[in-house]
Parts: sequence; structure tokens; C-alpha cells
Amino acid sequence: MEADIPSLFLLLVITGLCLCNGYISEETLQTAQVFLEKYGYLEETTKQHSGKQLASAVREFQWLSHLSVSGELDTSTVQQMIQPRCGVKDIESLKLVKSHHHGRQRKKRYISKSKKWYKQHLTYQIVNWPWYLSQHQVRQAVKAAFQLWSNVSSLTFSEALRDPADIRLAFFDGDHNDGAGNAFDGPGGALAHAFFPRRGEAHFDSAEHWSLNGKGRNLFVVLAHEIGHTLGLPHSSFKNALMSPYYKKLNKDYVLNFDDVLAIQNLYGAPPSGNLVQLPGKQFAFFQDWSPESHEDSGMKPSYCHSIFDAITWDLKKTLYIFKGRHFWMVSLGGKISPPQSLQKRWKKLPSYIEAAVVSGLDGKFYFFKGGRCWRYKDSILEEGFPQKCSMNGLPRRPDTALYFQPLGHLVIFKGSKYYVVNEESLTVEPYYPRSLHDWKGVPANSHSVLTHPDGAIYFFKGHQYWIFDQKKLKVTTSGKWAEDLSWIGCKNDVT
Ligand SMILES: *[C@@H]1O[C@H](CO)[C@@H](O)[C@H](O)[C@H]1NC(C)=O
Ligand SMILES: [Zn+2]
Ligand SMILES: [Zn+2]
Repeated sequence: MEADIPSLFLLLVITGLCLCNGYISEETLQTAQVFLEKYGYLEETTKQHSGKQLASAVREFQWLSHLSVSGELDTSTVQQMIQPRCGVKDIESLKLVKSHHHGRQRKKRYISKSKKWYKQHLTYQIVNWPWYLSQHQVRQAVKAAFQLWSNVSSLTFSEALRDPADIRLAFFDGDHNDGAGNAFDGPGGALAHAFFPRRGEAHFDSAEHWSLNGKGRNLFVVLAHEIGHTLGLPHSSFKNALMSPYYKKLNKDYVLNFDDVLAIQNLYGAPPSGNLVQLPGKQFAFFQDWSPESHEDSGMKPSYCHSIFDAITWDLKKTLYIFKGRHFWMVSLGGKISPPQSLQKRWKKLPSYIEAAVVSGLDGKFYFFKGGRCWRYKDSILEEGFPQKCSMNGLPRRPDTALYFQPLGHLVIFKGSKYYVVNEESLTVEPYYPRSLHDWKGVPANSHSVLTHPDGAIYFFKGHQYWIFDQKKLKVTTSGKWAEDLSWIGCKNDVT
């Protein structure tokens, strides 16, 4: 590899790509090439691009990004490339246009006529959402994001509670089966991407810390942008347009800029009333202030059924507790499900959500874990000395799950590919732990929840799956989909 640098260096000098400080690291050059290929400025190829191609791609990128057009890979250009943005290509049909123009002409953006919907009413579905956001707020945000577009065009939208929907919104981690180029890249970088009509898919990177209330990555803006793509809009070169490729903060301006409005009306026409309704962006910064959460819509399953819950445990009276976000549900042995209850009302001083929860089989006390801290309650009374910094005692920070393990009479905490046996009284890790998850044959790493069933079997949960660990055989004996297979979780018996 190293031998390539001098020759490439020479090539760049000859072809006029500036090495402004006399040197571009191989890494920077690689990053730039990957970026320019990913976003459509350079053809994707396994070969090295010539310095000339590279300089022309850089110029194109600078022009669209409102940087000074030099063709040089200077600091501000490289800086712009690492800004959080949308994963959709800036230049969608480079190849198509290129085959018509061989010269140095600017490639025009080109949307083929078929990239729109041929109906005015579209349905959408929220396939899943981050476990730390409330379902109610996510639904409000999605509804508002669609309204942005319906309030300035002839389109109308409604949520489909069942398949099939025209447009599906889903959160994914890393590679999620739509091509290596679309694999998500962890926090920052590409935040989301979507497909043009009539594929009807928008995908969001689970690795971002999404938020609908100030801190973190604002989900509403990104929803609104990706929905724009699902309706057929490409990226805009207007800096203030919602459809510009870079992540933006909400402010006093309208969320949609005139370029966005023209683009959507170009495809679908103006609203029948002729009136546009627009609101300033900051109206959408705090969804917690929107209409209060009503009880779950009748006829709908509890919201934990639609995606994974944070924690699950049985108390000594055999009531099942399921925790998700700011709420918990109780399911009786007979299958009766409570409405969602407020976590912080029942257990005062808990944070707004928890990462793991377990009831001690010894004395029925509730343990909660989040970050490096832990809480212990007798019924609803927080015990003295809590919350504690349990991570100071060697417990893992941000544990995956916690279990009361009858044979040892101890708590067990799972984190990644390790488990910790914890002394309940002192909340310290027992000698010789943590140990490898190999001891739990067949149990997946990073499970989301775990519990011991009153019949003695241990259930692990991760995503839509569950695994039963047989305490006698010391291995996993069964697995399946929890919402469908386990009637005691309360997700089976409605919506016909
Ligand atoms: C869309 O218009 C309706 C009716 O005027 C209004 O209540 C709503 O707040 C608007 N939504 C957005 C996102 O602008
Ligand atoms: Zn985009
Ligand atoms: Zn995707």
C-alpha cells in the first residue's frame, strides 16, 4: 500500500489536484473517493480514479455544496464530506446522463417521469422505532412529517395499521439487505436513506441517538426529508431547502423552503383549496408538548408488541411486568393486560426509561439498571443508599439484561458476550466473574431481555426472537417469535 502513495502523489500533482499543505494522507484520499462514489459524483469502480476524474468530481461536489469551486481537496471540502447527512445520492443518474455528454458539461439532475406515485392518497406504516422513544410521540412526529407535504400539495396520507402500506418507515442497524453501499455507518455520517417511488421505503440508522425533544438527532426533520424522497423528490442544491442533503436544525423558518414546495407541486400539484399551510420549524422541536398521550387506541395491541421492550420480569405474585420507555404494563397469569402505566409514578426517582429490571426471587424486591446506576425498591419504596453507582462495584455499564437465577440464588447480569453473577446484598460481582456467555449454550450475545418463567424455564429475548434455556440440559432447546408464540406476553389475542 505504501508504495502507492508517491505514484498517486505524482499523478495528482501532474493533473492539478491541489495538495494544499503539500500532502494529502492516503486515508483522506480514500475517504474522499468513497464519499464521492457513494453520493454519485464518481462512478463506482474497483479501479483507482484518475486525478482528472477526481478533481472534476470534487468541483461538482463543491458547486452543489456552496463551497468555493477549486477542485482541490482542501480542509473545508473534506470537512463538508464528514457532516451528518442523508444517505441518498446527490446525483442520482450520473451514469445515464454521462452516456449522453462526453464533454465537461455539468451533469444535470434528471428525474425520470416514472418516479412518482399515480394516486393522491397514500398510506404509511411505522414498522419499528427506537425503544427509548414513546410510540405516541413517534406517531405524532410521523403524522406531522407527512402533513408538511400534504399541506402544500394535493397529496393526502393516512396511517395503515396493517400491511400493506404504500410507504414503510423502519429503523435498521448497519447492513440491512439493501446493498453494501446502503449499510448504515454508526453515529454521524449517513443518518437515513429512502427510495424513490414506487418502492415506498425509508430507512433510519438505529445507531443514531434519535430525539423528538431537543437533545440528540432530531428525528422529525429527518423523517420529513426522507418522506420527500419516497414521494419522488431528489436532493436540492438550495442550502435552506429541506431536501438539501445535510442535516439541519429546526429554527424559526418554515420547514419547507420554496424550492421544496415547488418540487412537490411539480409532481403532484397544489392543494385543492389553493392555500398552503406552513409552520415554523421550531414548532416541531418538542413533541412531548403535543397532545397528551391517550390510552392505547382500542383494538390495538399494547405498543411493546410492535418492537422490543426494555425489560421483562415476573414478581413473586406471578404478575408479569413489561417495561418500555416511560411505561410499563402488567399482565396477569390469566392474560389480563393493564393499560400502560407511568414508570416514574410507580417508582419515584427512576429515570425516564430503564435498561434492565429484575425481581429478586428471594424477597421480591425490584432492581432497575440504567447506565452505571442501579435502584432497589421494596414495593414502591426506594431503599436507602439508592440509586447507587453500581459500575463502581464492577457491574457493567448499560447492562443488556438482568435475571434472578434460582440455582445460584443470585442476580445475573448479561452484557455483550459476558455474564456477571452479582451478590444481592452488596451488589458486588462474585469472585471469578464475569465469565463468557459460552456457559449459556445457544444464548445470543446482546439479548434485550431475560426472565425466568414460573415453570422454571429461562427466556431470552432479542429483536422479535426468543430462546428458551433449559436449566436441566443447560442449553437452549427452543426458539421462535415471542409476539406470536408466547401467549402469556399478551400480544396474540386481538386484532382479527
Ligand atoms: C397542516 O394543516 C393543518 C390544518 O390547517 C394544521 O392543523 C397542521 O398543523 C398543519 N401541519 C403542519 C405539519 O404544518
Ligand atoms: Zn436525502
Ligand atoms: Zn436501507
